Amino acid sequence: MTDKKLVSLTGIKPTGEPHLGNYVGAIGPALQLAETYESIYFIADYHALTTIRDPELLRRYTRSVAAGWVACGLDPERTIFYRQSDVPEIFELTWLLSCVTAKGLMNRAHAYKAARDRNREAGQDDDAGVNMGLYCYPVLMTADILIMGSDVVPVGRDQAQHVEYAADIAGSFNHLYGDRYSFKIPRAITPEAETGAVLPGLDGRKMSKSYGNTIPLFAPETELRKLVRRIVTDSTPPEEPKNPDESIPFQILEQFAEPGEVEKMRARLTAGGVGWGELKNDLFTVLDRVVAPMRSRYEELMAPGSELDEMLATGAEKARARAVPMLRAVKTAMT
Ligand code: ADP
Ligand code: TRP
Repeated sequence: MTDKKLVSLTGIKPTGEPHLGNYVGAIGPALQLAETYESIYFIADYHALTTIRDPELLRRYTRSVAAGWVACGLDPERTIFYRQSDVPEIFELTWLLSCVTAKGLMNRAHAYKAARDRNREAGQDDDAGVNMGLYCYPVLMTADILIMGSDVVPVGRDQAQHVEYAADIAGSFNHLYGDRYSFKIPRAITPEAETGAVLPGLDGRKMSKSYGNTIPLFAPETELRKLVRRIVTDSTPPEEPKNPDESIPFQILEQFAEPGEVEKMRARLTAGGVGWGELKNDLFTVLDRVVAPMRSRYEELMAPGSELDEMLATGAEKARARAVPMLRAVKTAMT
């Protein structure tokens, strides 16, 4: 008898190139979960369509996120790994689920509410600039989650509400059709809440594409060095003692250096005699040591015609092999 593992599923929306924060808070923890769970990780390219209007950019980011996963260590033999748009069953399930989803639930979704509040503040119509894709985004995400029979969904805190919605919608379906078919009820796990690992960006705020303060995970060496130099520090002179926990370069170092290196630097900063320039040089060395092997793998995979296409095609077949019978069961229950 085979041991039936629980299923961990997550998606990354391709709206930019992966950065160090994504690695620390999402990619790394998800790959860790792949050690103990059956893992299903995908690129949520149709979710990105709610904002990205340039097809070429969408293709580039999709490829970059896919190459990023593999370069960071995702093993496509062990993880089902695909592009969302290659699994059409997800979109059919989205419609079926829409029919058991209360509209009020969508009105209360964070992303939509934030757009509405911004409009109100600007004195515009509530729904100005809101497309149906943004409004119905949580239903598509629910279909992503339910169609694969997910147990846990590792996500950032901002996405936890969407996973609760998936659980709610699964509950509504089960209530209506449960004697014919029942979904498993998924739950979110938020690695950043567990590890407290929120990586600061160049300006000290949370590293995020929306703040334009990121260090791309696969930045070429010269760019990486330049970006590390741009991390903000105060004007404490080298000889004076410093508080490592208030230093942004140190907080980044903590996530990437070996524990012994971190403790040594902590002691040196606290004692005084180390300038920010030296800390940044050390940080660059540590980051480059960690990312250099991944960067060269990333570059290979990004090359046109690389094995990435084959990996995604095989992944889509595996994903559809799960999605097709699931969709059939739901259709049979509903129609
Ligand atoms: P961004 O804020 O750059 O748009 P996303 O919202 O696409 O990033 O995040 C994708 C994943 O990466 C989420 O799980 C999120 O929690 C994680 N993440 C993003 N930025 C950070 C950060 N600075 N520290 C830790 N985790 C992060
Ligand atoms: N909405 C998620 C984000 O913006 C991406 C995503 C799409 C996702 N479908 C998912 C995450 C399913 C987890 C499970 O980050």
